[in-house]
Order: sequence, then C-alpha cells, then structure tokens
Amino acid sequence: MTVKRVLIPVVAVFAVAILLMANAIAGNVTSLRGQVDLKETNSAATINHVVEDGRVPQNYRQQPPLIPHKIEKYQINLKVNQCMRCHNWQYAAKEGAPKISETHYQDHRTGQPLDDVVPGRWFCTQCHVPQVDAKPLVENTFSE
Ligand code: HEC
Ligand code: HEC
Repeated sequence: MTVKRVLIPVVAVFAVAILLMANAIAGNVTSLRGQVDLKETNSAATINHVVEDGRVPQNYRQQPPLIPHKIEKYQINLKVNQCMRCHNWQYAAKEGAPKISETHYQDHRTGQPLDDVVPGRWFCTQCHVPQVDAKPLVENTFSE
C-alpha cells in the first residue's frame, strides 16, 4: 500500500519531465531536409564550393594538412589510390604537388622506411579533408 502511494507520484513527475524534455528537443531540431512534409519536394540545398586558395596553414603542430583542392574525381579503394599519382615521390615534382611526408612511408610496427605508402596511410581522407565555404553545422570553440 505505502509503496504504491509513493510510486505513483514519482512516476507521474518523471513522465511530465520526459514530456517537457521531448518538447524542448523537438522545438530546436530541424532535419537536414528542412521542415517539409514527406510528400512535398524540398528546394535543392545550396552547393558549397571547395576552397582552392593554396595550402592552408595548420591550426596545431600535428594537424594533417587540409586538402587545398577538389577530390571528388580521385578514387581510393582497396586496389587504387589516385592521390598517389601526384603525391608519391616519383611524381610530386612533375605535378608541382607536395610529396607525402616521410612518416607515410614508415612501417608502423618496425619503423622501417618502405618504398611505397604504408597500409596505415592508404586511406588519405581518414586524416586529410578539403574545406568548403559553408556555415559550420555546430559552433566550434577550438583553441590551440
Ligand atoms: C592531379 C594531381 C593531384 C592529385 C590527384 C591529388 N593532389 Fe593533392 N595536391 C596537388 C597539388 C598540386 C597540391 C598543392 C596545391 C597548392 O600548393 O596550392 C596539393 C596539395 C595537397 C595537400 C596539402 C599539403 C600541404 O602540406 O599543405 C594535401 C593534404 C593533399 N593535396 C591531399 C590529396 C589527397 C588526399 C588526394 C586524393 C584524394 C590528392 N591530394 C590528390 C595535386 C594533386
Ligand atoms: C593517419 C593519418 C594520415 C593518413 C591516413 C594520411 N596522412 Fe598525410 N599527413 C598526416 C599528418 C599528421 C601529416 C603532417 C606530417 C606528418 O606528421 O607526417 C601529413 C602530411 C601530408 C602531406 C604534406 C607533406 C609535406 O611535406 O608537407 C601530404 C601531401 C599528405 N600528407 C598526403 C597524404 C596522402 C596522399 C595520403 C594517402 C595516400 C595521406 N596523406 C594519408 C596524416 C595522415
């Protein structure tokens, strides 16, 4: 009897709190698609252009340099890495591209320098990304 008497108000308070929270969240969130009914077609999103304005200064010492050019045409998969046709040491000078750094040729386990990019650095876009002139999706207060 006493347990029930305590439990009912507690459950009620929780239910109201959850409803209020859900309401607050729903009020602030807009989907990327916009507030458009499922049956309607939304207007196309603006296309943000990749910034191609020369090499970008690093924000901190260990930062993988940002890519100062478009990359959508350069495929990277298990067999092919088209970034390497400009950034590998044999082609870099001819293409006017910076050679991948020496760390990218260094075997992770043994520290041995190899002749080609090591597997751990194969998927370049894991670390290197181009930038677009878009409004940031979330605020960023990063400082060095
Ligand atoms: C057709 C040749 C070419 C290809 C292919 C290419 N790049 Fe580049 N990349 C360049 C050139 C040239 C620069 C130097 C641009 C400049 O100085 O403005 C550069 C600059 C960069 C930089 C900046 C380095 C620094 O120290 O600032 C990074 C990172 C980079 N590229 C990564 C990539 C990645 C990742 C790919 C594949 C998705 C790729 N690149 C494909 C030619 C190429
Ligand atoms: C695990 C993260 C990582 C991956 C994967 C990676 N890089 Fe890097 N890259 C870096 C970092 C960090 C630097 C800064 C120098 C250093 O620490 O070696 C760098 C430096 C560079 C530079 C500048 C070299 C210089 O001397 O200015 C180029 C160009 C580059 N990377 C291209 C590439 C390409 C092309 C690939 C794919 C084949 C690649 N990177 C994969 C992290 C990465």
